[in-house]
Amino acid sequence: MIRIEENCFIKERHTFRMPVYARWFVEYDTVGDLISLLHSDLLRNHSFLPIGGGSNLLFVHEHYDGVLLHSVIRDVTVLNETDSEVLVKVGAGVVWDDFVAHCVSNGWGGAENLSYIPGEVGASAVQNIGAYGVEVKDIIHEVETIEIATASPRIFTNAECEYGYRSSIFKHALKGKYIVTAVVYRLQKNPRLHLDYGNLRHSLPEGNITIADVRRVVIDIRRSKLPEPDEYGSAGSFFMNPVIPVEQYEALKVTYPDMPHYEVDSTHVKVPAGWLIDRCGWKGKEEGGAAVYEKQCLVLINKNNARPGDVVTLADKIKQSVQQTYGITINPEVNYIE
Ligand code: EPU
Repeated sequence: MIRIEENCFIKERHTFRMPVYARWFVEYDTVGDLISLLHSDLLRNHSFLPIGGGSNLLFVHEHYDGVLLHSVIRDVTVLNETDSEVLVKVGAGVVWDDFVAHCVSNGWGGAENLSYIPGEVGASAVQNIGAYGVEVKDIIHEVETIEIATASPRIFTNAECEYGYRSSIFKHALKGKYIVTAVVYRLQKNPRLHLDYGNLRHSLPEGNITIADVRRVVIDIRRSKLPEPDEYGSAGSFFMNPVIPVEQYEALKVTYPDMPHYEVDSTHVKVPAGWLIDRCGWKGKEEGGAAVYEKQCLVLINKNNARPGDVVTLADKIKQSVQQTYGITINPEVNYIE
C-alpha cells in the first residue's frame, strides 16, 4: 500500500523535532509499491528524498519543497542458518534497535554494541552507523536496493558498498541513485565480544559476559551521555570526528598535551570533535532555541523551540571556532536537507 499526505507537518518525523512542513510525505509497504512510485508523476516531476527515522537529518528550511519517501518494509526473514551463524534479511523500515533487541534475544551476536542507536535499518547501511568499536559494515552481508533511474533491483555486496567511517558508496559516488529496501546481516551464534572501546569492559560484570550484558551496558552508557529522545530533539553526534595527519596531531600535542586521539592507520589519527568543541568553550552555549548538549558537546539539541536556522547558525559558529583554534576542519555527520 502507498499513503500520500500533502503539506505534512513533520515535526515527529525527524528527531530534531523542529517545526518543518514537507510538501508531500509518502509511505510505502513493499518493494512493488516503491517501483510503482518511481514510475509515478509525483516522483518523476518532483525532487524526493528517501528517509528513515529522520535521526540524521537537518532540515535547513521550514518548508521542504519535495517528496519525503519513507519505507515501511518491515519483514524479517532468516535466509540461512548453520551451527555458527545466521543470515537474516531485514526490511529497510524496521527500527534499528528493535532489530538489535531481536538479535540479542535470539542469541545472535554482532549487533549488540550498536544498541540504542536511533534510526532504521535502511539508513544503517547508508550511514555505516558505529559505536563502541563496532560498525554496522562488520555484520552487513549484502544490501538490497532499487535503482532510481530504472526502478530495477540491484544487490550490493559488502565490498561494493565501499564502507568507511560513517560513509558508504550511497553517500558519495552513488548518492541519490539507489534506495535501500532491505539489508542482509550475518550474525554469529558464538560471538567474539568487542569490549575494548572506552569504558565498556569496566562497566561489565566480572566473569562470563553475554551479548545481553553488552546490550544493557551500552544502553546505560548512551543514556548517560546522549539526550533521551523525549528530553530534547537532536540528531545524535552532529559532527564526525575529524581524521588528521599524525604530524599535525604531534604538533598540536605540544600545545594541548591532553588532546585524546585514536589511531586510524600509520599516518592518520582521529580526534574527538566533542573534545575540540568542549575545549573551545561551547558546552551549554545557546543560539536561539538550539544549544550544545551539556553532557556531550558533539550533540546539538533543540532546547527550546529551535528553528532550523538556529541549528545551522550554531553549527557554523562551532565549526569556525574549532578551525580558528586548532586549524582542524570538522564536518557534520548530519545530512543537511535544503
Ligand atoms: N569529550 C569531551 N567533551 C565532550 C565530549 C567528549 O571532552 O563534550 C571527550 C571524551 O572525554 C572522550 C572523547 O572526547 O575522551 C570521546 O568522547 P566519546 O567517546 O563520548 O564520543 P565520541 O568518540 O566523540 C563516537 C561516536 C558516537 C558513539 C561513540 C561511542 C562519532 C561522530 N561519534 O563519539 O556515535 O556512540 O563514539 O562509540 O563518531 C552518533 O554517531 O550519533 C554517535 C553518538
